[in-house]
Amino acid sequence: MARCFVTRTLPGDAVERLAREHDVEVWPDEMPPSREEIARRLGDGVEGLLTLLTDPIDGDLLAGASGLRAIANYAVGSDNVDVGAATAHGVPVGTTPDVLTETTADLTFALMLGAARRLAEGDAVVRSGGWRTWEPRALLGRDVYGATLGLVGVGRIGAAVARRAEGFGMEVLCHRRSGGVALDELLERSDFVSLHCPLTEDTRGLIDARALGRMKPTAVLVNTARGPIVDTGALADALHGGRIVAAALDVTDPEPLPADHPLLAAPNLLVVPHIGSATHATRAAMADMAVDNLLAALRGEPMPCCANPEVYG
Ligand code: DGY
Repeated sequence: MARCFVTRTLPGDAVERLAREHDVEVWPDEMPPSREEIARRLGDGVEGLLTLLTDPIDGDLLAGASGLRAIANYAVGSDNVDVGAATAHGVPVGTTPDVLTETTADLTFALMLGAARRLAEGDAVVRSGGWRTWEPRALLGRDVYGATLGLVGVGRIGAAVARRAEGFGMEVLCHRRSGGVALDELLERSDFVSLHCPLTEDTRGLIDARALGRMKPTAVLVNTARGPIVDTGALADALHGGRIVAAALDVTDPEPLPADHPLLAAPNLLVVPHIGSATHATRAAMADMAVDNLLAALRGEPMPCCANPEVYG
């Protein structure tokens, strides 16, 4: 029986499954445990750590975690974990891909449609009593059907967005690390630019003032990947200056944005609180996968889904 620390209450019954085999502590609060709380447990001999994307696990934490045998991240991304340091310490890092692909692609389309057709503004005007009559020029938006969609990163989620785009008669341009359409060409030709690359040192700040300047003034930027891929200040300037027509964001940098952040004052912004994978079924499936990763590693077996398989080499 290994000691496990789970940094938040998860949906479904996966953690009960973990607790049938191991000694499990679940952090009870809505807010994440502090770095010190995590460090204390790692120093106390926790062997299995189940983390969320809001738990930064850096090299110093890992250096003080001599008993740690596995990290199972409750996310498809692993950018909150210093995976290189985990590998150096022989610790596998699990992730939860696949189960959230279609759910996140659904939200990408919802954001795209919502921004293009100004749904948040329409909702607000009706609720405030500001809607007085049907008006031919009111709340005019952009067509999604038949438009050009530029995908930056075409992994599982990008490909699932492309499948949906087919049904909307869209032309799809793809920019991949390994090729496809050059980023500048994609930015210049797309009516919608949707980000699906992981956050790495290469993609941090990829969509900066220069990139935004390449986009059509009528284009919409959609980000369901990671906030820091976009330069937040540059995006705020681009929206306030009418450089692009709108942005639809599931993720921001930082998360959450301070209430007085200039980006939140942009009228042409649709923003939601990192809910790409937030359906009952998907979040429970992610918990199952994270727990399966942890159970396997604690049994001494390879994790079914591991961000650093070289740890087994
Ligand atoms: C992930 O899994 O990385 C998402 O951002 C949250 O589901």
